[in-house]
Amino acid sequence: MDSGERPNWAPVDVDLARPSIARVYDYWLGGAHNFAIDRAVADKVLADVPVIKSIVLNHRAFLRRAVRFLLAQGIRQFLDLGSGIPTVGNVHEIAQATDPGARVVYVDVDAVAVAHSRAILTGNELVSVLQADVRDAKQVLKSPEVQELLDFSQPIGVLMIALLHFVPDSEDPRGIVADYRDALPDGSYLTISHAGYEEGDWDPAWDDAKQVYNRGVSEMCFRRKHEVQALFEGFDLVEPGVARLPLWRPESPDDVDEDAARFISFGGVGRKA
Ligand SMILES: C[S@@+](CC[C@H](N)C(=O)[O-])C[C@H]1O[C@@H](n2cnc3c(N)ncnc32)[C@H](O)[C@@H]1O
Repeated sequence: MDSGERPNWAPVDVDLARPSIARVYDYWLGGAHNFAIDRAVADKVLADVPVIKSIVLNHRAFLRRAVRFLLAQGIRQFLDLGSGIPTVGNVHEIAQATDPGARVVYVDVDAVAVAHSRAILTGNELVSVLQADVRDAKQVLKSPEVQELLDFSQPIGVLMIALLHFVPDSEDPRGIVADYRDALPDGSYLTISHAGYEEGDWDPAWDDAKQVYNRGVSEMCFRRKHEVQALFEGFDLVEPGVARLPLWRPESPDDVDEDAARFISFGGVGRKA
């Protein structure tokens, strides 16, 4: 693809020939910040597992319910790790609708996600955007964006939505979560949504979809429920614990699905005691 096809919103250093996690996800969500190379791989996965669109929408719906839950617990500052390309119902929109003084730091490694986040947040002084690899918690936590906006003497809501399935066991996801946990004051909350399934849930159509995604975009690790629960070490899980996404504190009958297992994902929220 030559530079003539580079949209004006794409930072100059982005490789238009390599799909990215953030842009493929944006395409499934119906967003416009993706390239032909992202759509090609996203469409191949979609052909195998059309449910993927409902899955990504479920992660977003879980995020909104979790943020509203945290607001109800008094949380007014959020650290959104792997925040993605902004779409409908971003964390600062939900939080600042409840309290205009709520503060949010968005962190993502993806240049398009960061550029678009910065573009829509110009003028909002209670929100900042950091381009960083969330696996390096120390770097993220000591960044000026985090240090200047978040008050570590008050509880913080850390969000890891559809993120940790991109961190294989060899990179120690539990250790990464622990690095953030140890920096948080008591009363802080951790929210995770994660790809995963239990025995018997796996549709064989996922075998091909997973290979296409792993080869084209990034290695994805589906985890079992007990493995997702283990990520909450040092946090007390709030009811109903780690649950299939549509079953985590549904707010209306529309949130629930009679076959929640087909969304092959879990979500949970825990409080640091
Ligand atoms: C599937 S998207 C989810 C985006 C957002 N959390 C949401 O729910 O809409 C995963 C995001 O995590 C980001 N990501 C993956 N690995 C990362 C890493 N090591 N450091 C920072 N961001 C990462 C990707 O760039 C992408 O934007």
